[in-house]
Amino acid sequence: MEDKITCTIGGIEQSVQPIGNHLQWHGIDLFKLSEKHGSPLKLSYLPIIKDRIQLAKNLFAKAFAETDYSGSYEYCYCTKSNQLSFIVQEALRSGAHLETSSEYDIDIIISLCSKAVIDTKTYLIHNGTKSVTYLKKIKRLQELGFTNSIIVIDSIPEFARIKGIFPNSQRIGLRKATYDASFGCSRLGLSEVDIRTLVSQIKRDNRYSLEMLHFFVDSGMGDVSNYLRELDESLETYKYLQSHFSSLRFLNIGGGMPPLKQGFNQDDAGNFVFKIMNRIKEFCDANGINNPDIFTEFGSYTVAESGAVIFEVIEVKQTEDGNTWYILNNSLMTTIPDNYSIRTPFQVMAINNIGHEKIQVKIGGISCDQYDVLFGKEDHQIVLMPKIIGSNRLFVAIFNTGAYQDSLSGYGGIKHCLIQSPKHMVLNKDEKGKVNEYQFKAEQSSGEMLAILGY
Ligand SMILES: Cc1ncc(COP(=O)(O)O)c(C=O)c1O
Repeated sequence: MEDKITCTIGGIEQSVQPIGNHLQWHGIDLFKLSEKHGSPLKLSYLPIIKDRIQLAKNLFAKAFAETDYSGSYEYCYCTKSNQLSFIVQEALRSGAHLETSSEYDIDIIISLCSKAVIDTKTYLIHNGTKSVTYLKKIKRLQELGFTNSIIVIDSIPEFARIKGIFPNSQRIGLRKATYDASFGCSRLGLSEVDIRTLVSQIKRDNRYSLEMLHFFVDSGMGDVSNYLRELDESLETYKYLQSHFSSLRFLNIGGGMPPLKQGFNQDDAGNFVFKIMNRIKEFCDANGINNPDIFTEFGSYTVAESGAVIFEVIEVKQTEDGNTWYILNNSLMTTIPDNYSIRTPFQVMAINNIGHEKIQVKIGGISCDQYDVLFGKEDHQIVLMPKIIGSNRLFVAIFNTGAYQDSLSGYGGIKHCLIQSPKHMVLNKDEKGKVNEYQFKAEQSSGEMLAILGY
C-alpha cells in the first residue's frame, strides 16, 4: 500500500510551503483564499508562466554555451494547452512565440492583433490538420503583417491545399511522424516515404521555401531514451532535407518537456536540455551541417504549474472493504479530466489542518459515476490526509492543473450529473511582489445550464 501514497503533504513541490496549519502556494494562503471566495475554486497563477519561459531560455542558453552551439533558440507556446486569454497574453509578454493547431487559434491571434498585444514579428508555427478554412485564416494573418508564419505540412493532400490558397509563395515546414510504445506510428505527421514524395513535389515547384523540420513525441521528453531515439531519426531526416534545400534552417523539437514537479526538478530539466543539444551538436559536426536554429513548443511545461483547484471535503464515507473515502464538493472527472481518461497523476494536498493526525483515504467526486475518483496510475489513489474530527472542515487542493484541463473539460457548458464549473480566480503579482486577484468567471449557475439544455 505504501508505494501508492505519492501525493501527500510530504511530497512538497517547490511552489508549496506549509506555514503553521495552512498550505501556501506561491506564498498565497490557499485556505484563506477559499474562505474568501468559497469552493470549489479554480486558480490561475500567472507569474509562474514567465518564470518557466525564462528558465527554459536560460537552460538552452547554458547548453548552447556548453556545447559551443551556434544556432538560436526560439520558445513557442502551444496554445492548445490553455487558450484562456490571460494565459496566452502572459506567454506573449514573457517573450514566447506561438504554435497553432486549428483555425480558431488563428481567430485568437487576430483578436490579439486587434488589441495590439501581439507583435507581427512573432513566429507562428501552424500545426494540426490544415483545412481550407484554417489556411484561409492563416492567409488573413499574413495580410495583417505576420511575416513569420510557417505552415508545417502534416500530409501530402495538405500540400495540394496549401498550393491552392497560397499560389505565389509560402514558408513551410514538414512534420515527421514519430513512434511511441502506446500509439505505435503516429497518424500525425509524415512517414519517410511521404517526406521523399513531398521533397520531389516541393523541388519541382520552387515557389515554397522549406525552412523547418518538426517532430513531436507524444510520450514526451520525460521518456528520455525514447525521445533521444526519435531525435536521432529526425536528425537523419534533417540531413537528408538539407541536402535538397539550402533554405532549411529550423529544427522544431516539439513539446513534451514535463512541468517541474516532484521527481523532475530544474537540474533534471537542465541535464535533459544539455543531452538534446549535445546530441544535435555532435550530429552536425560529424555530418558537416550548420547548427539549425532550435524551436520548442512546450505546453504543459509552460502552464501546468499555473493551475490549481480547491475543493472542500463534504462527506467522509467508510466502505465495507475498510476504505475511507473523502467526498469532494465538485467532480474530479470534469475538473481534471486527464486523471480520469489517461490516468495523469495530479498532486493533491490538504490546505488546512495540515499538522493534524493523518489517515489513508481515497478521494471521490460528487457525481454519481464510479469513475469520479482520484486515480493513481491504474488504481484509485490512496493519499494521506488530515483526519477530520467532529465539525472540523477540510479543504484540499489539486495542483498542476493549468495545462489541458480547461480545454478538455470545456468552460461552462453541460457536465456529467450537471456538476457546475467552479468559480475561477486569476492571481498575479505586482512589481513589489504584492498579490492581486480578479474573478475571471463566477461559479456556473443552474440558470445557465438549464438555458443550454433548452428549459
Ligand atoms: C504538435 C504539438 N506540439 C506541442 C505540444 C505540447 O505538448 P506538451 O504539452 O507535452 O509540451 C503538443 C501537444 O499535444 C503537440 O501536439
